[in-house]
Amino acid sequence: MTILLDSASVDDAAAAAELGFVRGITTNPALMARETKEPLAHLERLLAVFPEGPVCYQPTGTSFAAMREEARAAASLAPDRVVAKLPATLDAVRLAGILTGEGIRCALTAVYSPAQALLAHEAGCVWIIPYVDRAARHSDGGLTVVNSLAAMLARLQSDTRILAASLKSSVQVSDSILHGAHDVTAPLDVLRGLPAHPLTESAVREFAAAWPQT
Ligand code: G3P
Repeated sequence: MTILLDSASVDDAAAAAELGFVRGITTNPALMARETKEPLAHLERLLAVFPEGPVCYQPTGTSFAAMREEARAAASLAPDRVVAKLPATLDAVRLAGILTGEGIRCALTAVYSPAQALLAHEAGCVWIIPYVDRAARHSDGGLTVVNSLAAMLARLQSDTRILAASLKSSVQVSDSILHGAHDVTAPLDVLRGLPAHPLTESAVREFAAAWPQT
């Protein structure tokens, strides 16, 4: 199981790296647009914050050729660590098949259906990325989606992993894993909130009160 940060902020990435349990980062064009006008140069900054972990980069171009060239350029920066993240369309499935044939690691993102998982498996993607909270808001049931993706990948005996995204709470993070996701990505505030529980906090206050600090 791998925990990633969902952000394009260098400051968030540095803070997440300090937590000790966050191994890499996922970005998308919307997150990138908040931080930079030069996404490939910005990707290099994010790679530097996580010198060993995966960094998922989603091309900002939307045509097949633009996505292909941007994904190739991104992967060339760190071939072992950059994962080209592509929204689960027909073009993306075709492109993922081409890029994986070149040795570039790919993921299909914004995934909501087992049919999309089937195609990610066929294209040799390392990850499929369901948007759990968005699915819940769309009444598809976020965790039901994760369950059905897990069932499809198990049926196919696939090496493609489920990276749960669009996670808004610690419960959504842990429930995603319990429902079949292998890995998770979440914003910094959600990652920081993972250990929070009111009874843990009251126990901490009780222990501290037993040994008043001078
Ligand atoms: O990478 C962004 C994806 O996780 C979607 O998140 O918060 O826009 O639903 P959100």
